[in-house]
Amino acid sequence: MRGGQMQAEAQTLSRPHGGRLVDLVVAPERAEELERLAGSWPARHLTERQRCDLELLASGAFSPLTSYLGASDLASVCERLRLTDGTLWPMPIMLDIDEDTLRAAEACGHLALRGDDGNLLGVLEPREAWRVDPLMEARAVFGTDDTAHPSVDALVHRTEPWYVTGPLEVLPRAVTPPGREHQDLRFTPAALRRHFTDLGVSRVVAFNTRNPMHRAHHELTVRAARETGAHLLVQPVVGPTKPGDIDVPTRVACYRGLMPSYPAGRATLALLPLAMRMGGPREALWHAIIRQNFGASFMIIGRDHAGPGQDSKGRPFYEPYASQELVRRHQDELEVRMASFPQLGYVEDTDSYEPVDQVPPGTRVRTVSGTEVRQRLARGEALPAWFTPPAVAAVLADRFPPLSAASA
Ligand code: ADX
Repeated sequence: MRGGQMQAEAQTLSRPHGGRLVDLVVAPERAEELERLAGSWPARHLTERQRCDLELLASGAFSPLTSYLGASDLASVCERLRLTDGTLWPMPIMLDIDEDTLRAAEACGHLALRGDDGNLLGVLEPREAWRVDPLMEARAVFGTDDTAHPSVDALVHRTEPWYVTGPLEVLPRAVTPPGREHQDLRFTPAALRRHFTDLGVSRVVAFNTRNPMHRAHHELTVRAARETGAHLLVQPVVGPTKPGDIDVPTRVACYRGLMPSYPAGRATLALLPLAMRMGGPREALWHAIIRQNFGASFMIIGRDHAGPGQDSKGRPFYEPYASQELVRRHQDELEVRMASFPQLGYVEDTDSYEPVDQVPPGTRVRTVSGTEVRQRLARGEALPAWFTPPAVAAVLADRFPPLSAASA
């Protein structure tokens, strides 16, 4: 059943902001010691995806994971969306490495994890290493070996040949880098849970997005907050998303512009340094688990959540409601419930957004595809007012000026 309105089953909030959180961040004295020791250790310079993964492992956003998956956990996650101990976990979190660095780290007993500036971010004791099988993983996790899927492309073309794991320690700067932008919007899971407790809020509905928020997104959040009676957590992804997405600084300006449209004290904006995999259903379930860790009691899943678009034959990789179906199947094991929505489209007659499958026959419903949005912005064309809220349109117009003005 997929009704016109959001579906969120009633729940008893036995633990309002979720269960125990992992914390891999070492004390300052240990950080200093590691810094000293690691000078002579072999190093893996982390990609942006790996840096995001390390931060979220360390801060507990990936609880209950305490390190990268080992071979048996990876096989189990691929096969049945669970760790070997049966815990629901749909997405591999892996550290890939080249053979020379791996052998050196095994001989040394330590692997330094460094950022692109060379700073030490973490330290791994290599206990287990095995060869990556990119196609097996791609088929199991993403349901395809088509490299039009950005994560399949990354697995096949940009993954080092070995996976390695072992006990992991993380330096504070991996989670709270000094001088990071938008510090006022950065929260660890523990800090966000505290924020909700301080606000006296026990019900929180989380929203994931990798887009500037258009009116359909805004409508989803307003409806979800109203129908769950929960505080709204707008938690946009600011790690790598789908190639071609609008850049993070522009999107953050859009989110900041839109927040005053929510009733004061009823919504929180928090940036999530997640590297999305565009994994559709598995990714939706993963997002729900992550938001549970951040203290949410509901997670909004709309149409084609975390969908990567079309495959090389022009067909969608995932069915539009496959994400909702997978989360629905597993949510009884979680403390977070799904707030699911059908596709909303703009109905001109009523100047409102409505579920497209519920409007009377003959009604004109308007939607704009992501590709069309990008094309219009690239041409410096304004997005229609029925599609984009004024606060967001103002930021986008500034960032994507009309071509004539840009070349003047
Ligand atoms: S996503 O990669 O984060 O899923 P996006 O930022 O576009 O992409 O979507 C954020 C959330 O809004 C997702 O749950 C998505 O399913 C939902 N969504 C976006 N547009 C619509 C729409 N028109 N109708 C219903 N749900 C939508």
